[in-house]
Amino acid sequence: MVSATGFAAERRDTPATPLGSERTDLAARFVVRAAILAPSIHNTQPWRFIERLDGLELWADRTRLLPIIDPGGREMLISCGASLFNARLAVRRLGFTPRVRLLPDPAHPGLLARITWGTRTAPRPYEELLYRTIPHRHTHRGRFLATPLPPMLSTVLAGIARGEGVGLRVVKYEAQRRQLAEHVQAAEALQLRDPRIAGELMAWTAPADGERPDGLASGAYPVSADGVELPWRDIAAGAPGGFRHRGGGREIDQETAPAAVGTVAVLTTREDRRVDWLLAGQALQHVLLHAATLDVSAAFHTQPLELPDLRAAIRRDLVCGHPQMLLRLGNVARHQHSRRRPVTDVLSTE
Ligand SMILES: Cc1cc2nc3c(=O)[nH]c(=O)nc-3n(C[C@H](O)[C@H](O)[C@H](O)COP(=O)(O)O)c2cc1C
Repeated sequence: MVSATGFAAERRDTPATPLGSERTDLAARFVVRAAILAPSIHNTQPWRFIERLDGLELWADRTRLLPIIDPGGREMLISCGASLFNARLAVRRLGFTPRVRLLPDPAHPGLLARITWGTRTAPRPYEELLYRTIPHRHTHRGRFLATPLPPMLSTVLAGIARGEGVGLRVVKYEAQRRQLAEHVQAAEALQLRDPRIAGELMAWTAPADGERPDGLASGAYPVSADGVELPWRDIAAGAPGGFRHRGGGREIDQETAPAAVGTVAVLTTREDRRVDWLLAGQALQHVLLHAATLDVSAAFHTQPLELPDLRAAIRRDLVCGHPQMLLRLGNVARHQHSRRRPVTDVLSTE
């Protein structure tokens, strides 16, 4: 079965095809190696995987939850959903059509998905392309180049998100973009005033030359305002390099802003349940990987979605449905790499 977006959809009607136990082990490692390259909030990598004979389980790692900005685990589950999309792609790369059950066991809410190998079907060229692109997708922070996006890309990306059961609303009108930017600016200002949030950020900030395999390495984010009207998170808030420490310089240079902002979009879901967050994560990663095949990168501005009043205002004024991610798309001159924990840290056998 192939969905409208060209991605082989899971088949619920066919039995799992178990591999031999040695090959299952290799296959599990292959899949998890791809899964861990997904984006995650503050690079917390809040996932763990358990190998089964007929596939893998994806669990949320609640020790990596951000209790202040993400008490309900919404962003944690979006991150895990993105990693699930990579896992699906890797299973396709191995020549199987994965069967995925989201939240399969109400008695274990931490079990987010059960992935079984499914039937053998050779990957399609599009799936191969997305799989190969996984290591080349990186989060961008700051300005984009003024080069326009490929024609129709926004429409294609909206179709891809729809194929994953999620909406992608491109913010086309300047007035709406400005309104959204004001919400991001307000959220950023509010969060900067909250010492608990600065503390949480600091806990996930790592020295550039350190060994730490998670969190945001200094050097992965800018430490001065760049004039883009949607401010990025002041990741080094409170630290000597942060804006706040240096007096909170956040001037918006309206004249140069529009070209640098890129294409602004909001990912939305019809409902706002845990399953919707997992769908949003998968859609996000599908959209990001498709964009990356065309050398288009994304920047994120999720601060207002972490504050209930601002999230409600965005829902009321700008989108249909529940806003899950706020992003900008554009071309960049250079990519910034981020670190990952090794597969052995996140994969176990039970
Ligand atoms: C749910 C979610 C929210 C995020 N929010 C932000 C954000 O507000 N600002 C930002 O710069 N990056 C944000 N990111 C990107 C992460 O910081 C990034 O994925 C992580 O550092 C790993 O880097 P990579 O995407 O380059 O692999 C978010 C990612 C996810 C999945």
